[in-house]
Amino acid sequence: MFNKAGSLSGIKSGGTARGNRRAMMHVLGLETTCDETSAAVVRLEADGTRTILSNRIRSQIEEHRPFGGVVPEIAARAHVEVLDRMVRDAMVEAGIGFDALDGVAAAAGPGLIGGVLVGLTTAKAIALGIGKPLLAINHLEAHALTPRLTDNVPFPYLLLLVSGGHSQLVAVRDVGDYHRLGTTIDDAIGEAFDKVAKMLSLGFPGGPAVEIAARDGDPERFALPRPLFGRPEPDFSLSGLKTAVRLAAEAIQPLNDQDVADLCASFQAAIVDCVIDRTRVAIRAFRREIGQPSALVVAGGVGANRAIRHALQRSATEAGLRLVVPPPKLCTDNGAMIAWAGIERLWRGFSDNLDAAARPRWPLDETRAKPGARA
Ligand code: KG4
Ligand code: ZN
Repeated sequence: MFNKAGSLSGIKSGGTARGNRRAMMHVLGLETTCDETSAAVVRLEADGTRTILSNRIRSQIEEHRPFGGVVPEIAARAHVEVLDRMVRDAMVEAGIGFDALDGVAAAAGPGLIGGVLVGLTTAKAIALGIGKPLLAINHLEAHALTPRLTDNVPFPYLLLLVSGGHSQLVAVRDVGDYHRLGTTIDDAIGEAFDKVAKMLSLGFPGGPAVEIAARDGDPERFALPRPLFGRPEPDFSLSGLKTAVRLAAEAIQPLNDQDVADLCASFQAAIVDCVIDRTRVAIRAFRREIGQPSALVVAGGVGANRAIRHALQRSATEAGLRLVVPPPKLCTDNGAMIAWAGIERLWRGFSDNLDAAARPRWPLDETRAKPGARA
């Protein structure tokens, strides 16, 4: 159980107390956009205390492993098979009945459409059944707001979102007010880790495997490119780096364990340099366009990488910023972040109609504070 007390910046205390204790709100959150099925219940109390009452997560990694990546049809089917049970378990663990919920949130995209439909349709059915509002959440918005659940970070802050599907630098100005400063023009960083792992036969998912192999490697053995390094826009590009790793590996076939370690270390060092440089440019752009960020926040699975975290800590300190990295379980996909984004929106009086669409693509800066809201 995760519990964080304190005043909620942007969310003032003094709302109507409902349910048990001094709860203002309980929201159920469902996450099914990729290869994790998750159901969670989060509570917000009148004094700003937020508690994750349950956060059930089931990874589908074993189902996808034989294919070396996520297979959309397998993912959708696996979500259908377990979601209703996970909702029940999350409610039992939270110790509240459905009647105590104030809203039902689901990730409505972006993501694999089959999976998104499973979660969103389930949330609609529950919301309709209990007569409570539906919250159709942008999955990226949920990542972006997680540091407010874990660390009560005030707006505005700079978010580095680095996962298997996204590499973005975003100015988070308020709920529903996101300004994307930079993004990847080809692969996402996690995707590049996964592809390099695949080409070096390190298995799936690749990020952790590459990080472990890199520990015994020489980061300077291979001179790999740092795409877009020094450029004035904080964008990423990974495909040239990935190709350079492939060419370097092909040139020294057959590979022994030390070669693989050196390739991983050299690749990771190139990624670290790019992340640091691009983040530095984004901090400057933030200060120029928006003002002083309250923190540098990291979200997404790649945030678990220690070399990247350490380097980011150094650059945050240099820039005089606090670095906030939620714990790994809340950095990767989970229902608690969806429930929390639901609370942030519901508290502001926003909700969605039952015809809310599932969206395979949904840029964060299109998520306005009140898309078709009815409150
Ligand atoms: O956020 P996430 O769990 O799922 C989505 O993509 O939404 O991120 C998964 C990605 C994968 O590409 C995985 O290889 C990468 O995060 N990842 C890592 C590490 N752990 C996970 N990349 C680098 N180093 C890691 N330790
Ligand atoms: Zn995600």
